[in-house]
Amino acid sequence: MADTTVKLYSNTLRNPVMNGSGTLGYGKEIEPLWPIETLGAYVTKGLSLRPHHGNQVPRVWEERYGMINSIGLQNVGVTRFFDEYFPLFRKKNTPVIVNFFGFTEDEYVACAENIKPDPLIVGLEINLSCPNVKKGGISFGKDPDMVGGIIRQVKAVTPIPLIAKLTPEVKNIMDIACAAHEAGADGLTLINTIPAAAVDAVGKKVPIKGGLSGPALRSVALRAVYEISKAVPVPVIGSGGIMDYMDAVYFFMAGAKAVEIGTVTFVDPFAIPKIIDGIKDYMERERYADMDSIIGCAHCEDLNGR
Ligand SMILES: Cc1cc2nc3c(=O)[nH]c(=O)nc-3n(C[C@H](O)[C@H](O)[C@H](O)COP(=O)(O)O)c2cc1C
Repeated sequence: MADTTVKLYSNTLRNPVMNGSGTLGYGKEIEPLWPIETLGAYVTKGLSLRPHHGNQVPRVWEERYGMINSIGLQNVGVTRFFDEYFPLFRKKNTPVIVNFFGFTEDEYVACAENIKPDPLIVGLEINLSCPNVKKGGISFGKDPDMVGGIIRQVKAVTPIPLIAKLTPEVKNIMDIACAAHEAGADGLTLINTIPAAAVDAVGKKVPIKGGLSGPALRSVALRAVYEISKAVPVPVIGSGGIMDYMDAVYFFMAGAKAVEIGTVTFVDPFAIPKIIDGIKDYMERERYADMDSIIGCAHCEDLNGR
């Protein structure tokens, strides 16, 4: 039997497959379809210090190669998540990664401070794509100094491993990854959505501007995972356009220690259990005994420096 477990900090995950933040509600919504403990770890919807209403509809838009969302980070706030929703994960013994954000540095820090360490919490995933209201709306993740600053401040208030989720909307994502690592990030999630818009030809308007996810992202995410996992010595979690088990395998081979699955669950709500089964079957068929023998196996010298 292929061993799909993967060690992430002090937790051993039963498999390396998680959901993408914001794409599986608060966990309980999926329970009628498949048990939450099927996941290696559950990634929370982005949580903030206080509840947040989010944007008006339309908040999602289907495109040919993916989906545009403009949810606006709607969430119930960190306190209510732990009071009302966390007990399910305790009952099901399912590890949790807490995705969180703020609109100021103080909000990020206060939110992280409010998350008490727990044996089930694998890590905090800091969403750096949020607009910094004090700096004219530029996202935290665009500037290496801002990334370093926020990571240092958050690291100072929590002992929980900190995983920096990076936006691809930057000149050089490697510079941002290095800044995050130098500031003490314990891991990286690569990548978040890409800014996009859609046109409604009948209404003659742009009904949505937001983040593009799904297949259009996959090669961009894969390149970030490949290059950054070779250069930066912390676990990398791959996110972006993974639609089936073979996509997940490509990410492992490129260096991802785990993967997050998002948009495909809107196409097929059973995609995650199917991907987990597919990875197991593939490993057995191709005689990979464990995850260590597959993670990073495509790392090699770059061809002609490309
Ligand atoms: C509806 C929706 C909501 C999302 N909410 C968040 C969020 O709250 N925090 C975050 O870091 N990423 C969020 N994301 C980004 C996903 O977690 C994921 O990184 C991205 O969609 C790329 O993966 P995918 O192509 O498999 O969906 C959201 C994506 C979607 C589609």
